[in-house]
Amino acid sequence: MRVQPTETDIPHIDADALVIGVDAAKNLSQEARELDDAAGESITRLIARGEILGKADELTLLYDLPGIKSPLVAVVGLGEPKQWGGGAAFRAAAVAARRLAEKKRRRVAFCLGDGWTERQVENGICGALVGCHGQDLYRAEKNTQPFAEILWHSGYPPVLAAGQILGETVNLTRQLVNEPASRIDPESFAAEAQKFADEYGLGIEIWDEKRLEDERCGALLAVARGSSQRPRLVILSHQGGRPGDPVLALAGKGVTFDSGGLCLKPSDGQKAMKGDMAGAATVCGAMQAIARLELPVNVIGLVGLVENMISGDAYRVGDVLTARNGKTIEVLNTDAEGRLVLADVLDVAVERGAHKLIDLATLTGACLVALGTDVAGLMTNDQAWCDAVRRASEQCGEASWQLPMFPEFGEQIRSKVADIKNVGEGRWAGTITAAKFLEEFVGEKPWVHIDIAGPAFFENPKPWLDAGGSGAFVRTLVEIARHWPDLAETDAADV
Ligand code: BES
Ligand code: MN
Ligand code: ZN
Repeated sequence: MRVQPTETDIPHIDADALVIGVDAAKNLSQEARELDDAAGESITRLIARGEILGKADELTLLYDLPGIKSPLVAVVGLGEPKQWGGGAAFRAAAVAARRLAEKKRRRVAFCLGDGWTERQVENGICGALVGCHGQDLYRAEKNTQPFAEILWHSGYPPVLAAGQILGETVNLTRQLVNEPASRIDPESFAAEAQKFADEYGLGIEIWDEKRLEDERCGALLAVARGSSQRPRLVILSHQGGRPGDPVLALAGKGVTFDSGGLCLKPSDGQKAMKGDMAGAATVCGAMQAIARLELPVNVIGLVGLVENMISGDAYRVGDVLTARNGKTIEVLNTDAEGRLVLADVLDVAVERGAHKLIDLATLTGACLVALGTDVAGLMTNDQAWCDAVRRASEQCGEASWQLPMFPEFGEQIRSKVADIKNVGEGRWAGTITAAKFLEEFVGEKPWVHIDIAGPAFFENPKPWLDAGGSGAFVRTLVEIARHWPDLAETDAADV
């Protein structure tokens, strides 16, 4: 898809559709006013009649307005002006793009940006790209038809390019999540990573089963044993800073299918489990964006790739595993597999010199119970680092909320036969006991765990996003990488 700036005055823009914005205070943007003037004040009249309210997610389609070259004008609500951030810009553009993509349209012009910050323009372009791509990968007749070209009115080309990179990498993450497990397994996932690493100049190491054994990744390997798909660990690296600059590590859970193992999930519980590699896909999307944006920072992205299946060789309840860092783990539920995979991935990240870490995982159903489908859970061993992650997510309109990590929760994962066990006592606070387990593998390093079980994958579509993989938190990770030179220095004592 091409994203191009246009300076043509709005009534004369040659496009299949134009998108303009009205906010909830009923203010027309300067661009909307230009269109309104040319079209005999049609928009002002619709506002006066209460047809257009300017609320977030509102979309009004107007056909064949007099004086306007484009045959279709979409008026999108921008919401409360006070609440504008990257999130509102993303959402407004995505709402319009999603509706317009229901029909085949070659060129769509977005005239939203006057008065927007560069960051909002970037997010808006990202939203336009995300809104016009759907999950219908294997439908002959597409529900969502991507535009061939996006025009952005008065866009500054470097900002447009950055927005396009964000949109394409969020869509990469979504596509990896949406591909069925029959197409994306640990090996083919790693091959995808190899492809884009070569294309965009990321360093890459792929550990196969033999290497994982040599590296004593006993927890990850145990999960993989029941599947005929062999596991992989991928380490991507972006050296945008100087040698010796602090390293940001991003780690992702990449369970390409989670059947639950011997503690088999009921069929309903398996339906979304092709998406249990969303953490890994998010890390890949972010790493590709960081490389293409040429951010002047050192970042490594590590993803643990396994399939959790059943066979005569599958790991069992009661097994005791030795993780890479030497800790012994009693397995009391084979469906609590993500934390076993991440245990070894986090240990590798620490060994590779991570200064601070973030991991992303569709880790617990309990997180959906606690926070619902739209909010990610944050847990940490370092409050200042967690605050930085939360601020970035807020900036991008990607909702997150912190859960406590009181030491008492850690008592729940003590085992009578091994150092720790992979589940807590009963179901209560299951999101936190999972995080307490991960904490055992990050040493003393500042670390934030993001449980994306809710927002990574939507069963139902949103006005701005098709159902399926959402690509949530790619933008947040990029935002953090952009501030990494400052964030690397703050520690808990500074706050
Ligand atoms: N991948 C699941 C968590 C999940 C559930 C993500 C629903 C998205 C939607 C994870 O591996 C899992 O099965 N967790 C168990 C943990 C339990 C056995 C302690 C769960 O949440 O039930
Ligand atoms: Mn599971
Ligand atoms: Zn899982």
